[in-house]
Amino acid sequence: MKSLTAYAPAKLNLTLRVGPLQDDGFHPLESLVTLIDFADQVTVTQRDDEAIVVACEKPGVPTDETNLAYRAAELLAETADVKHGVTITLEKRIPPGMGLGGGSSNAATTLMLLNALWDLGYEREQLSQVAALLGSDVSLFLHGPLSVIRGRGEQVTPLDRPLEAAVLLIMPKLHCSTPAVYRAFDEMPAQPPRSELNTILAARGADTLMMQLFNDLEEPAFRIEPRLRELAALIRSRIGVPVLVTGSGAGMFRLCDTEALAQEAADKLIDLNDIQVVVTKTQAAVG
Ligand code: C5P
Repeated sequence: MKSLTAYAPAKLNLTLRVGPLQDDGFHPLESLVTLIDFADQVTVTQRDDEAIVVACEKPGVPTDETNLAYRAAELLAETADVKHGVTITLEKRIPPGMGLGGGSSNAATTLMLLNALWDLGYEREQLSQVAALLGSDVSLFLHGPLSVIRGRGEQVTPLDRPLEAAVLLIMPKLHCSTPAVYRAFDEMPAQPPRSELNTILAARGADTLMMQLFNDLEEPAFRIEPRLRELAALIRSRIGVPVLVTGSGAGMFRLCDTEALAQEAADKLIDLNDIQVVVTKTQAAVG
């Protein structure tokens, strides 16, 4: 049986500016997003029947039609009038509820793999239209490594060069519900003025860059999950510099100039319970 495999990377929102709630129930965004090397792996395998089957050994990952990779396959099959079944095998490392886009990335990678497996010949723009129906931040994973996303998150402008940095990635055993974080955002006063994207892209060195980065959903995430605020403060006191929440949380990160520096910071967190700390890097080339 023919089979194809690819990595499905996590993302970090380096900036996240959120506008006021619109009539459609969504908030307009502008976010500078990088893909990172920390990734799941997706394999699609042809089947004899017409079934779509998701296989995942990680406990807690749904394998039914609520899995976004399942819905990606279903929607693409419907759109392209494909009758073949497929088994989608997910090797998960990216935890859910972390603002790292794991589920969205799995869905986008599934679309790209099935485009090849089913020989559809869809352009990225066509896949992007399918992706936008699956979720706000699925489309960005069809591009990479560095993009600006706007609208709900589905309008993607890829930038022509990556932003290369080592990453200290912190994944707490806390869960932030995206709709709840947005609701908390709605109850907050207006956000302070933020650095412009051009200023941020011109910054040299990870420490200078970190000072420019921001996330309008960080404070709302801290409000709905006060333990996340406490954890961010504790990490800051340990490593001497702040970390930033990605997406609607609960994941946090710090960019560093080298992996050795990121590892040095990680070593200072080694005894903390209930967090997973990973040293990785931003994606340097289209994965
Ligand atoms: O599109 P997605 O399923 O990722 O969005 C989950 C929820 O997050 C939405 O139902 C909405 O409440 C909120 N959201 C938002 N504005 C966005 C993206 C998501 O309010 N731009």
